[in-house]
Amino acid sequence: MGTPLVGTVIITGGNGSLGAEIAIAIAKIQPFVHLLLTARDIRSESVETLTDKIRLIGPRSFEVARVDLASFNSVVSFSQNTVERVQHKEIPPVIVLINSAAISSYVVDETTRDGYDPVYQTNCIAPFLLTVSLLEAFRAGDGTANGGARVINLGCSAISNGTLDYFDRETDSTNERPGTPLGARKANARFGSSKLLMSAAMYALRRSLVLGGNISLNISTLDPGGMTGESHLTTAAPFSVRMAHQTRSGLRPLLRMFSKTAINKTSVPAKVIAKVAFQNDSVETWGRERYYILDSEYEAGSVIPVLRDPAQMDALLMKLMRQVEVGVKGMGSPDSSISRRRGH
Ligand SMILES: NC(=O)c1ccc[n+]([C@@H]2O[C@H](COP(=O)([O-])OP(=O)(O)OC[C@H]3O[C@@H](n4cnc5c(N)ncnc54)[C@H](OP(=O)(O)O)[C@@H]3O)[C@@H](O)[C@H]2O)c1
Repeated sequence: MGTPLVGTVIITGGNGSLGAEIAIAIAKIQPFVHLLLTARDIRSESVETLTDKIRLIGPRSFEVARVDLASFNSVVSFSQNTVERVQHKEIPPVIVLINSAAISSYVVDETTRDGYDPVYQTNCIAPFLLTVSLLEAFRAGDGTANGGARVINLGCSAISNGTLDYFDRETDSTNERPGTPLGARKANARFGSSKLLMSAAMYALRRSLVLGGNISLNISTLDPGGMTGESHLTTAAPFSVRMAHQTRSGLRPLLRMFSKTAINKTSVPAKVIAKVAFQNDSVETWGRERYYILDSEYEAGSVIPVLRDPAQMDALLMKLMRQVEVGVKGMGSPDSSISRRRGH
């Protein structure tokens, strides 16, 4: 009889440049987890390539499910299906969720069918909704520091360009036609705000779960630092922004001397994430809100100051809960045609 699987690991954006490397890093060091990756297009070349790479590592329990994070319907269908599969013991409980998928955009976009800016919905609402709607699929805590599950949200330094009210202001004031180019400053503020709101709301969720005492979900943000590779988050940028990025890449060895987080190959943060996802915590460290920049740990409130304002944190949590509630109630019947591609 084979060794039983110890848990399910979900990675969104599993075909992205970082998501794929995280999947490979985990497949290498955790042979007995079920890897459940999500991608928008499960027939894409990137999914094909990743599947081949994982097969080469050895026999692994692995599948890719189609999820469009810009759609409440798609996210909730996936979550409901996953909860049912865990309850029917078709797959083991979720022990790790890594929210890696993200988009940036340098034009005014049409709102999604759910009525939100797609950058906000994909980068902030979707990981929040996914986490909340997967609650019954996570491994139930046993009262010990390592008995529950872990959620790692991919952050980035762009949060320093973001504001908590960006999407409130923009929704009220944007009259420009879809397709109108956005300046780099505004696009960065939009992306940074989506990431800032996501991180803060997820720490707020963690607090509410910890206070509720029932669900042992250790939520944190990890900033992988700058990365080389094919990320759409940089190639989608206008020429001027891409040139700035290339200049930065050109300085790579020099920058590395000053900061190990400056620019790395995606395999570097991927290995760190694979380690953090499975590291054992003491009761004392479990209680802390941590923010990782690559493998360095910080108190999250020192990176995201709003975490030190309980009233604002409560308001943010309520806002996100309202937004996902409206979305879930407004959705049609769950899409039963979730397609997936199995690794073996
Ligand atoms: N690249 C960097 O230098 C850098 C630096 C700091 C932090 N990060 C963070 O690292 C994470 C991964 O970035 P990356 O560089 O790997 O980006 P990437 O290569 O562009 O990958 C992004 C992933 O998100 C997916 N995605 C986008 N919209 C989606 C949607 N509506 N539904 C489902 N999936 C969707 C993409 O799927 P498709 O293939 O279908 O588009 C892709 O798999 C991001 O959270 C980013 O903020 C990146």
